Amino acid sequence: MSEQFFKLGFSNLDKELSAVPLKTKGQIPTWLNGTLFRNGPAKFTANDNSSWHTHWFDGLAMLHKFSFYEGNVLYSNRYLRSNAYYSTLENGQFNIGFGSKGGTKIKNANNTNINVTILDDRFVALAESPAIIEFNPVNLETVEVFNFDDSLGGQLTTAHPHYDLQTKRYINFTTEFGQAHQYHLYSVAAHRRKRELIASVPTDRPAYMHSFANTENYAIITEFPLVIDPRDMGNEHKALIENFTWKPDQGTLFRVVRKSDGVILKSFEAEAFFSFHHVNAFEINGGLILDICALEDDRTVNHLQVSNLKGETGEPIFVQLRRYTVKFNSQNVSYEVLSPESIDLPTIHYSRYSGRSYRYMYGISTNRHHYENYPNQLVKADVQKGTTTIWRQDGCYPGEALFVQRPNATNEDDGVILSVIMDGHNSHSFLLVLDAQTFEELGRADVVNHIPFGFHGMFTGEQYM
Ligand code: CO
Repeated sequence: MSEQFFKLGFSNLDKELSAVPLKTKGQIPTWLNGTLFRNGPAKFTANDNSSWHTHWFDGLAMLHKFSFYEGNVLYSNRYLRSNAYYSTLENGQFNIGFGSKGGTKIKNANNTNINVTILDDRFVALAESPAIIEFNPVNLETVEVFNFDDSLGGQLTTAHPHYDLQTKRYINFTTEFGQAHQYHLYSVAAHRRKRELIASVPTDRPAYMHSFANTENYAIITEFPLVIDPRDMGNEHKALIENFTWKPDQGTLFRVVRKSDGVILKSFEAEAFFSFHHVNAFEINGGLILDICALEDDRTVNHLQVSNLKGETGEPIFVQLRRYTVKFNSQNVSYEVLSPESIDLPTIHYSRYSGRSYRYMYGISTNRHHYENYPNQLVKADVQKGTTTIWRQDGCYPGEALFVQRPNATNEDDGVILSVIMDGHNSHSFLLVLDAQTFEELGRADVVNHIPFGFHGMFTGEQYM
């Protein structure tokens, strides 16, 4: 095991900055105008000496913002002022959340640290509890809890809503535990906050799911055998993941819903696997293709405790890029492997290829010859040719790679990749800009401090200054 230069990525960032100009190297393209918003945990211990058993998913949410104009970059960051934020600071201990133990549980906790999107023309931060928090895109200040204007139920949701390119509506689902358990698949128009139910999918094995798939005509809920016993959900002392049990005998089910009329197709079954992230999905003659970053089982979920991630020994985690093919005339689902590399936090040229046949995906990855407990390279996979391109720099640990299209581009990969990289050798982070076609560096913008490892974000061509 090498020297674990990534550990800084799991330490607190207390400083909040406002529109600080960053020193750049190389060439940030002058056509790259707009704003990159990112979300992720930034506080893992309530104070410097405490050793709470904090799960990566429970660190307190911080929003980051990179503003691009004419080759210049400004950076801002701010903690989300959630009830979990105030409670943690006041009590000096973390709340019991997704996987953290040892604290207390607070009602309607809303540490929304996973993703960022726009709902009803508001910028919002998302997590897997149905709570959503609106923030101000200019100064990143917390505005208020965002509520939908309807009474759709559910105790869990995903932080990965799809934006449907055909209908221009957001699609997501909630999981409701009750007498009968159901996944409520819904859509909501771009400038509205009233959700419309597409279908309620009944289940007798409600599962933990972090994302789902959306094609032109179908939404697919991939139901892993990581099953929740709903009777435990109210237990004051249990973290959310402690309610899950891995039951591989039950296999993984693809629950397919036709969006136009809410018809639920028969379930398609694959051998048990788990995943956090779907990459993309699309329709073929008589079936569906689903590309998924797949794990053998649920071990990773617990592995993501910060204490494990910072540990000297960790068992290698391999996230396999798999292509599952659902055939409507067959019950069983098989897969093929699309890349020899381990890949997660997948992204694509979403605004043109989501739900459609595509060629390129991007992700973070752990080098097979330089194994570390945290991903240490970026990859671009050509899912049609099966080739993989790598960007790597010693002691550097990447965040999600977001694709931004060059204006008037025609090729799928004509644009840049933006990724926040933690430079462990020099104890700070930088925003890396890669040419998405060659995967070579165009330029970078140095942040003075480190940016803790986060999850997801979004780029918009608008300036918020
Ligand atoms: Co995610």
